[in-house]
Amino acid sequence: MYSEKVMDHFNNPRNVGELENANGVGTVGNAKCGDIMRMYFDIDEDGIIRDVKFKTFGCGAAVATSSMATELVKGKTIQEALEVTNKAVMEALDGLPPVKVHCSLLAEEAIHAALWDYAQRNNVVIEGLQKPVSDIAEKAPEEDY
Ligand code: FES
Repeated sequence: MYSEKVMDHFNNPRNVGELENANGVGTVGNAKCGDIMRMYFDIDEDGIIRDVKFKTFGCGAAVATSSMATELVKGKTIQEALEVTNKAVMEALDGLPPVKVHCSLLAEEAIHAALWDYAQRNNVVIEGLQKPVSDIAEKAPEEDY
């Protein structure tokens, strides 16, 4: 049912934990399944994501997607991180079962939430970034559950 990559990131999640010196922290949840994901970004003065950590209270697919998402944004620019969509995360994981697609939306929105927080704290505007939702159930299609 799950790809080897999903199982690998679930069993050995990368970048788990918190960042004390984070300058962008984003938390999103899904009221329907009750899962919560938090991402911590340390963004340097050149707008490069120098370090990233996450904490996910959720299903295995949510753990795997958040782990992969942190790998995909680490060392990248803010603009590059914005391109890490849920589809990109799923592709990097060699796919997810249809009922688990919404879990990857949590990862995309957590990235956006952390970037949004960074922008608010530093009084900058990130082009193309829309205000993230705190409950991803507003965005996930009904048939995903
Ligand atoms: Fe909720 Fe996976 S079941 S994020």
